[in-house]
Amino acid sequence: MSAISFDPASGVWLLSTARTSYALWIDPTGAPCHLAWGPPLTLAAAGRLVLPAGEVSSFEGRSPAGEELPVDGGARYGVPSLRVRFADGTRAFEWAHLGHRIGEPAPGTKELALEFRDRHYPLAVALHYRVHDDTDVVERWTVLRNTGRQPMAVLRADSAAWTLPPRDHYRISHVTGQWSAEGLLHREPVPHGETVLTSRRGITSHHANPWLMLDAGDCGEDRGEVWSAALAWSGSWHLTVQRTPDGRTSCTGGAGHDGTELPLGPGQEYATPRFAGLYTDRGFSAASRAWHAYVRSHVLPHPDEMRPVLFNSWEATGFEVDEAGQKALAVRAAQLGVELYVVDDGWFRGRRDDSAGLGDWTPGTERFPRGLVPLVGEVHRLGMRFGLWVEPEMVNPDSDLYRAHPDWVLHFPHRTRTELRNQLVLNFARDDVAEWAYGWLTRLVADNGIDFLKWDMNRAFSEAGWPAREDGQDLLWTRYVHHLYDVIDRLRADHPGLRIETCSGGGGRVDLGILSRTDQAWPSDNTDAADRVSIQHGFSQIYPAQVMAAWVTDVPNQLTGRSVPLRYRFHVAMAGVLAVGGDLARWTPEELSEGAELVAQYKTVRHIVQHGVQHRLRGPVDDGPTAVQYTTADRREVLVLVWQRAPRHGTPRPALRLAGLDPTACYRDVTTGAVHHACVLTGYGIAPELPTGDWSSTSLHLIRVDDMTTEGTGSH
Ligand code: DGJ
Repeated sequence: MSAISFDPASGVWLLSTARTSYALWIDPTGAPCHLAWGPPLTLAAAGRLVLPAGEVSSFEGRSPAGEELPVDGGARYGVPSLRVRFADGTRAFEWAHLGHRIGEPAPGTKELALEFRDRHYPLAVALHYRVHDDTDVVERWTVLRNTGRQPMAVLRADSAAWTLPPRDHYRISHVTGQWSAEGLLHREPVPHGETVLTSRRGITSHHANPWLMLDAGDCGEDRGEVWSAALAWSGSWHLTVQRTPDGRTSCTGGAGHDGTELPLGPGQEYATPRFAGLYTDRGFSAASRAWHAYVRSHVLPHPDEMRPVLFNSWEATGFEVDEAGQKALAVRAAQLGVELYVVDDGWFRGRRDDSAGLGDWTPGTERFPRGLVPLVGEVHRLGMRFGLWVEPEMVNPDSDLYRAHPDWVLHFPHRTRTELRNQLVLNFARDDVAEWAYGWLTRLVADNGIDFLKWDMNRAFSEAGWPAREDGQDLLWTRYVHHLYDVIDRLRADHPGLRIETCSGGGGRVDLGILSRTDQAWPSDNTDAADRVSIQHGFSQIYPAQVMAAWVTDVPNQLTGRSVPLRYRFHVAMAGVLAVGGDLARWTPEELSEGAELVAQYKTVRHIVQHGVQHRLRGPVDDGPTAVQYTTADRREVLVLVWQRAPRHGTPRPALRLAGLDPTACYRDVTTGAVHHACVLTGYGIAPELPTGDWSSTSLHLIRVDDMTTEGTGSH
């Protein structure tokens, strides 16, 4: 059960989730201050954390850590979460508390809103907190409102600042990467000073992802305290971690990056994106599981659905897309067991390569003389759903759209319009651009019977200007994302059966914001199964397998030139939403039959992967195998996937200790029939047989033997 309580005597608010507490108060200066985030407390105990302010040296000022939303103002010298420039040029903010509200916006959800205003200027600030019965995640966001008659500029408007309790050491876990190498996990000491994780690209980015985990340097996969936070935002963002001279650590984060500001006109309101925080004392793996559960229960629009096995044409046919070729591939895909057939780039007017066509969203007449309907009909007739690739935010200068509307792109006068992949970014912040995109998308879906869109976005912003509006270059960073969300929301409302995959040249736009309106994500353009093991490991830190699309493609891999066996490629892809992206026209009968067998096998276990609970048994760290376990919520079924690179001879075969089983039960191996005691599997482990040679892999599917006690089973 979650709860929010307030003690008027101590002035303390206590937010309680099933296993954690979060406490705050307002100090004598009127500033909302942090008290606790960690193991459960009572309201009385939380009150004891309020300490009288001590003597402070004139060189110190307020500690940079310890406020709920440190402002630019007063004797503060750390990173401000809120910086404002009022109409007369004044910048400092001074807190004046107005009151608070505690409510229940939905069954099982409690919300606290703390309301403030500036002591003099017409700016209202509300700090929002939400807790739910079924998760330890605390959601936070801030709402700013200009209550005056003159405009003001918000120079930084973070969603929230998170403060950790004092510890001797701190460590940060986060991901970095680049195109085709996203999600590489780093775990390193938090340096003293300030550490900034950010995207200045207008998208979430391949290079960093808006989440982090902090621990005291003593946490492991299955033990120890972790404080983590994830931002629900799909544009530029920043998270600043501070390790302060007084031995504290905090993190403030929100939308925008250094140098961007938000104009706030008279009467206007700005609600920051949500910044969700989670504390657990059971290790990184438990933190990931709690995030997965939160994404499933509070973020995804259709968490209870099973994602279909899809085929995607990109690596098979590239831009060479036509009706006959796609129909032939669709027949093979259906034979393989594919349930959703997706035509990728290349289907629209003028699109022979990446130099032209973006913006002209009608089928190419030489490739689809009768439009898309005959292909969609054939795919449906074959028993599959039909999906289509789109890149609505982009335009090639060589397109009718750009020739008609050269002012629709992000640009500055007298500046180069830098092309990346021969394309420019449409200014989605403009009402007319967003309306145009919504219009053709909703017609495309309706007119062709489209079931699924792969929504791609293949370049970062540059020359991010909007000359038609004086405040355009500041406004666009947030309005672009709000319009993007709005277009997707309207499409979904028009077509309730439509499902959407978020893609940005692979994993450039994966975050809690976009996932609240899409159904799955494309984590990387790198489909090399060996590389994918690390990419998936990074992805799994916050995001669940249910949204992790994974294709089996051909070898040698187009990107890396590496060849690994078909079975290994399947086993890696089975760790998420299995898909096929190879050129099925060139698969041998043996490959097609092995593929069909593995697709069929995936269908028997995907409920465990997509809706189950994940334990990372061994990360991709050394010569040994990497292994991931999934278990159904009722602990009846288990799937373990094991992948081994090219081991040195003599590399020990580790016993994998399974987790989260019913401790008194026995489990039967579906393939061999062998029966295992849960206490042996968890306490002593199992070393699954792997074929010899490089790139070996296996899957182990266990089902609980009901009504069988651990005594007298004759089991292993
Ligand atoms: C980038 C995507 O990540 C790929 O999967 C593919 O859709 C290409 N764009 C098509 O241009």
